[in-house]
Amino acid sequence: MSPKETLLCLSLFLLVSFSTPSASVNDELTVYQVLEEYDFPVGILPKGVLGYELNNSTGKFSVYLNGTCTFSIDSYKLKYKSTITGVITDDKISSLSGIKVKVLFLWLSIVKVIRDDDELEFSVGIGSADFPVSNFVESPTCGCGFDCVNGKGSKIKINNLVSSA
Ligand SMILES: *[C@@H]1O[C@H](CO)[C@@H](O)[C@H](O)[C@H]1NC(C)=O
Ligand SMILES: *[C@@H]1O[C@H](CO)[C@@H](O)[C@H](O)[C@H]1NC(C)=O
Ligand SMILES: *[C@@H]1O[C@H](CO)[C@@H](O)[C@H](O)[C@H]1NC(C)=O
Repeated sequence: MSPKETLLCLSLFLLVSFSTPSASVNDELTVYQVLEEYDFPVGILPKGVLGYELNNSTGKFSVYLNGTCTFSIDSYKLKYKSTITGVITDDKISSLSGIKVKVLFLWLSIVKVIRDDDELEFSVGIGSADFPVSNFVESPTCGCGFDCVNGKGSKIKINNLVSSA
């Protein structure tokens, strides 16, 4: 697989329109609000983050999910570990660990995300790909990504399909 093919595949998996709402009420900033503080859209993290730690002088962070989170976008799979770590500064997340994308038959780690104007550049080490920031205005849901009925899980979706059949 050439780097060019990798980029093509990577660029396909995120070309979707986002339509699910996210909500979280808290006194402190949610992790999604923190992302926005650093000029990133919320959609680079899935819904359901339990908590996070951030050293706001170094930018080192850990994000905690309730278990591993996987979902598919088109025919591509994304996998978030239950702990995501990295270093965030304005418009740049580096040393990223815990997020993988399946490109063809390979699981590649997304190691860096850079915001350049209205584009996000995702780097998997051997290559990178740009996507419009507008693709990331909403967070995907673990299990069903953006292909969820009522913004719930795939079980709900199956039930709905069965009951409406
Ligand atoms: C942030 O990291 C620096 C360098 O490791 C450390 O000195 C500082 O105490 C940390 N701040 C917080 C709030 O943890
Ligand atoms: C960093 O965090 C500390 C403690 O949480 C807070 O008092 C301080 O205002 C923050 N600094 C910045 C630049 O946000
Ligand atoms: C975490 O996931 C488990 C299993 O899906 C669920 O029972 C539990 O309520 C979840 N915890 C939180 C805090 O969301």
